[in-house]
Amino acid sequence: MNVREFEAAAKAVLDPVHYDYFASGAQDELTMRANEEAFRRLALVPRILRGHQPPGLGRTVLGSQASMPIMIAPTAFHRLAHPDGERASVRAAAEAGVIMIAAMLATVAIEDMAAEARKVADDPALWFQLYLQPDLGFTEAIVRRAEAAGCAALVVTVDSPALGRNERGDRNDFHDLPPGIRCENLRETGGSVRGVVLSPEISWRHLDWLRGVTTLPIVLKGVLHPADAELALRHGIDAIIVSNHGGRQLDGTPPAIDRLPVLADAVGGELPLLVDGGIRRGTDVVKALALGATAAAIGRPVLWGLAAGGQDGVARVLALLRNELLNALTLCGCDSTESVPRDLVLRGAM
Ligand code: FNR
Repeated sequence: MNVREFEAAAKAVLDPVHYDYFASGAQDELTMRANEEAFRRLALVPRILRGHQPPGLGRTVLGSQASMPIMIAPTAFHRLAHPDGERASVRAAAEAGVIMIAAMLATVAIEDMAAEARKVADDPALWFQLYLQPDLGFTEAIVRRAEAAGCAALVVTVDSPALGRNERGDRNDFHDLPPGIRCENLRETGGSVRGVVLSPEISWRHLDWLRGVTTLPIVLKGVLHPADAELALRHGIDAIIVSNHGGRQLDGTPPAIDRLPVLADAVGGELPLLVDGGIRRGTDVVKALALGATAAAIGRPVLWGLAAGGQDGVARVLALLRNELLNALTLCGCDSTESVPRDLVLRGAM
C-alpha cells in the first residue's frame, strides 16, 4: 500500500545485519529521523477550481528524459537486499522511465547494469555516482568505464571526506561484504569496500581536474551550505543534489528539505537542484518541487522494494509513488510538475 509497508516487508525477509546496514544512520540518527519529520512539518495549501487537465509528470533533467520527477539515489550493495541486486533495480527503473544513479559501490558492474537497462528500454537514463579518489589514474579509469557504458551524468558525492560513524554497523561488526559479493566497479583493485578512499584532501582542484577530463554533466551530491552552491556555480558544476546522505554521514546536519529554499536562493535558477532524504510520499515530492527542486530522489524506499520483491518490488515502489504524486498534484490544483508554486507550502502550521 505504501513505502512504510515495504520497509516492514523488507525487514521480515532481510538478514538483520543487512537490514541495519540499509536502515541505519550515523551515531544518534538525529539527522536520519529529522529528514522524514521535516516533511511532516510542512503543510500544503491547495488551490481550487483550476479547470486543468490531469497533470503530466514528465521531466527532463540534464538532458535525461524522465517519466516523473522522482529519481533513484545511489545506494551501495544491492545484492545484500536481493540476489539479482542492481540488475533488478536498474531494470525496474528503466522500465518505469526513471533516472537511476548507479553507485560506484554497486555489486553489479556498471557495464552490466547498462546492458540490463537496455533490455527493457531503448534509451535508459543511467547516471554514475563517484567518490573522487586521490589516485586520479584510478578515478579517470572508472570515469571512462561509466562513459563507455553510456552513463549520462557523473554524480560526485562530496559529503564524504571520511566515513560517517555508524554504531549499528559497528555493533554488528559489519565492515565488508560476504563471500561471493563484491564491488564490481572496483574489481581491478580486488572489489573490496576497503579499496575506496574517502579523503579530506579532495578539493575543488579535483573537481576542476574532473571538469577537464570529461564532457559529461557533473552533479555535486551532498551540498548543504549556500556558499558551496555559489562555488559550484563558479566551478562549472551542472547540478546540485541537496542531501545529507540520508543521515548517514555527519549526524546533526539539518534536514535536506529545509536547506532546499536556502540553496535555491543561492543559485538563483542558474542550475537545477535535486534533493534527497526522507522522501516517502507523493506529497513529499510535491513539497520538494514547490521549494525549488527539479526532481527528488529516493534511497531506502528502493532498497525496501528490492528486498521485498526484487525487480517487481522496485517497480511497485516506483508505481505507488507515481500514483501518489499524481494524486497529490491534482489535489493541489497543479497541472504540471513545472508549475508548483512556492506558496503551496506553509511552514509552522503542523
Ligand atoms: C546510501 N547513500 C549513498 N550515497 C552515495 O553517494 N553513495 C553511496 O554509495 C551511498 N550508499 C548508500 C547506502 C545506503 C544503504 C543508503 C540508505 C544510502 C545515500 C543515498 O544516495 C541518499 O542520499 C539517501 O539514501 C537519501 O535518503 P533516503 O531516501 O534513504 O531517506
